[in-house]
Amino acid sequence: MLRFLEDELLELSHLGLLREVAGARPDLVDVASNDYLGYAREPVSRATLLECEAEPGAGASRLIFGTTEAHLALESELAEWVSLESSLLFSSGYAANLGLIQAVCGPGDVVVSDALNHASIIDGSRLSRARVEVVRHRDPAEVNRVLGAGGFRRAFVLTESYFSMDGDRADLAALREICDRHSAALFVDEAHALGVFGPEGGGLCREAGITPDALVGTLGKAVGVQGAFVAGSSTLTRWLWNRARSLVFSTGSSPLLARLTLGHVRRARRDDAARSRLAAAASALRDQLTAGGVILTQESAGPIIPVLLGDNARALRAAEALRVAGFRAQAIRPPTVPEGSARVRITVSAGLDDATLARLGACLIRACAE
Ligand SMILES: Cc1ncc(COP(=O)(O)O)c(C=O)c1O
Repeated sequence: MLRFLEDELLELSHLGLLREVAGARPDLVDVASNDYLGYAREPVSRATLLECEAEPGAGASRLIFGTTEAHLALESELAEWVSLESSLLFSSGYAANLGLIQAVCGPGDVVVSDALNHASIIDGSRLSRARVEVVRHRDPAEVNRVLGAGGFRRAFVLTESYFSMDGDRADLAALREICDRHSAALFVDEAHALGVFGPEGGGLCREAGITPDALVGTLGKAVGVQGAFVAGSSTLTRWLWNRARSLVFSTGSSPLLARLTLGHVRRARRDDAARSRLAAAASALRDQLTAGGVILTQESAGPIIPVLLGDNARALRAAEALRVAGFRAQAIRPPTVPEGSARVRITVSAGLDDATLARLGACLIRACAE
């Protein structure tokens, strides 16, 4: 019955779009993951594990006896970190966006979504059955135009703060002002900004001094563990307890991981040294690449460095050249990015030393010249 899948896979392969699982390659230097502060690959010590002293499993949904002190302590720390009243854990950023958007937005509403928003925001918007208006990337004037046109019950503006594929930022202050003017809610996904930007690494909303109506943060990127949270008012989190299906109908996250994550969050809040190292490493590599004629996405800054190659085959060749030189980097192709904008997405980690970064830069310059 499923033989047709073989033909489809062959077709993907011909188009240079086949995705294969990258196996563990500890021999390669990782410049593809989102481990911005270098925490994810540090082995957990026996002492830390003993300190965590928590059960491995929640055993049930958070609503049905699955909530422990470990979850509550982490949620309180996370809310404080992003300067919002309350937060609620989800099993992943994907589940957080799905749960949030599906629970809050509905038929008759409009969701105004940046063209480069993550798949989880797109899928959550579809699930909500609201009308979805996709607006040009980083264009507050377009958001203003859609909101000004009216014809909806309630309006929600959805954006990433630091965009995962282009490494550029939303103008959060402008979006907040526009939302206030039109009585719209602003949802900000800080997946790639949390731990990296803002005071204590508390994200770009904190850096911009704005309060979003809902903020999604992930714990598997700079925080280096797994899971995610939605933060906002306590009214919002009470609503999510009642209506977010990816929370209500899913086993609570591991209390042990929650304890471990709490330690990581506290460390990330204090770790300005890693943030400075990360910023310096990213700007040194950017300078080397641009001086070497490599084309990066416009306005990109910070640890996500998208090297534009255009067609899929070229991006795959560049990723392969990096692999041969000892680096693990990902070729990103459509549908993850728009047609004709295939790229190799480099992510810098605070753990990379200067010599490795210089070697990476030289290798990328050679690969792009071919
Ligand atoms: C912007 C954004 N939101 C959400 C997610 C999903 O987070 P998670 O990996 O925890 O599911 C990701 C990446 O994976 C992302 O880049």
